[in-house]
Amino acid sequence: MHMQLIFVIEHLEPEIGKWLLYEYAHASKIVGKKHLMFTNVRNKSDWTKLSKLGKVETRSATEIFSREKVLILDPKADLPLTPEDFAGKGVLVVGGILGDIPPRGRTFRLITKRFRETTVRNLGKAHFSIDGAIYMAKLVNEGTPLEKIPIKKGLTLKLNEHAEVYLPYAYPFKDGKPVISHNLVAYLCSDKIVKDEEKLLKTRAQL
Ligand SMILES: C[S@@+](CC[C@H](N)C(=O)[O-])C[C@H]1O[C@@H](n2cnc3c(N)ncnc32)[C@H](O)[C@@H]1O
Repeated sequence: MHMQLIFVIEHLEPEIGKWLLYEYAHASKIVGKKHLMFTNVRNKSDWTKLSKLGKVETRSATEIFSREKVLILDPKADLPLTPEDFAGKGVLVVGGILGDIPPRGRTFRLITKRFRETTVRNLGKAHFSIDGAIYMAKLVNEGTPLEKIPIKKGLTLKLNEHAEVYLPYAYPFKDGKPVISHNLVAYLCSDKIVKDEEKLLKTRAQL
């Protein structure tokens, strides 16, 4: 336990929007750039963006690491993650997948199934963000049992007197505050997200 781990984010979204980039940047801050690797990064401009946050690989984690060394975090796993699970492992794989409600089981389809016979664990029933899942795994690797980490399901961000945004995911809490990217909170509370969404809808309508 408490061994040097490589935290791997298997990038599986077709593009890197702001939301995803903020989660990735926060994950890099949590574990440190030297301990983070992005795999399955096929696009050159994505490669450039992500190389500021960690090591970047074009190949999938399934092609790079041998399955005995790997621990996968998948909400569909049968067993919860424990500190003992890290014994003999060197690589923790998390899906570079944005949350969807209801969950579509993409971690299972796109990672777990392709890795066959690897150790696969969950963080409980609720879905965490990518950075939140990495934070949880870091603490468990350092010896904290999963059930001792404070979490809260659902987070409400107050935009102003009249409006709020509800995030239906689970968030770890540290010193009474949710572990979430400050840049993401600022983005969600700004009108930029409304403009980005409008642009996205227009682009989709033109396709
Ligand atoms: C935002 S989640 C996306 C989950 C995706 N909607 C699915 O159904 O598989 C991003 C990543 O965080 C990790 N994760 C989040 N919540 C988890 C949980 N409860 N158990 C295990 N892994 C979790 C997984 O590696 C997952 O791929």
